[in-house]
Amino acid sequence: MSRIEHCESSAGELLANRAIRSFVLREGRITPAQTQALDALWPRYGIGSGDSRPGKDAVPTINTTSLFQREAPLAIEIGFGSGDHLAECAAARADTNFIGIEVHRPGVGRLLQRAEQLGLNNLRVACTDAVELLRIAVPAGTVDEVMIFFPDPWPKKRHHKRRLIQTDFARLLARVLRSGGRLRLATDWAEYAAHMREVLDALPDFENLAGATGFISRPDDRPLTRFEARGLRLGHAVFDLEYRRR
Ligand SMILES: C[S@@+](CC[C@H](N)C(=O)[O-])C[C@H]1O[C@@H](n2cnc3c(N)ncnc32)[C@H](O)[C@@H]1O
Repeated sequence: MSRIEHCESSAGELLANRAIRSFVLREGRITPAQTQALDALWPRYGIGSGDSRPGKDAVPTINTTSLFQREAPLAIEIGFGSGDHLAECAAARADTNFIGIEVHRPGVGRLLQRAEQLGLNNLRVACTDAVELLRIAVPAGTVDEVMIFFPDPWPKKRHHKRRLIQTDFARLLARVLRSGGRLRLATDWAEYAAHMREVLDALPDFENLAGATGFISRPDDRPLTRFEARGLRLGHAVFDLEYRRR
């Protein structure tokens, strides 16, 4: 039996029941190097089963002290895509533990390759639905920072229900963030930016740190992401938001 099969548990059944997801699973093109990285490096960097198919994506409760073998602030990036941004953050901030969550296996494989190249010890990766992972596996008040950059905008009205930033999900973020923790977001989709503000500004758990404009200037220390670069090429404006957990 493989390590992946070993890791499956009854939590997988729970995960199978979520009907509306913020992603559509497409394996896409995965390179031999990414496949090899997933096989070879998952035991070192992976959290849970590593199988993002609904019902297979069991993740045990996360205990960061045993996961990282140290106590340090915890930052989570949700939907890291290719992972270049996350690898750069982890390399730049050795004093912080990072967990990346992404369902797209080629991106996960690419991040594992980068993590090994950079010799990162402060990064772990989950290949699963972030909504379920936060709900089931992350204890309340244990996270210092959540980053969600360029989440899928789901532009068609009938798909808006698939957007990650919704009131219920924001409540989940508020649950896992410690008091004073930060929620950082960015999007190049103006209407989604307004929607994010509408959802988050309405929650008493969060304080918008931007003041009257609602959006902060682009932080100098936020590495460019692949989707941001694409948005800029298309001439889109980029909106950055930052909230403090009250
Ligand atoms: C538009 S891409 C942006 C990727 C990256 N942040 C960037 O800026 O280049 C959104 C990513 O979020 C991932 N995603 C969407 N919903 C997710 C979820 N519930 N859990 C984990 N990843 C998710 C998708 O697979 C996709 O890779």
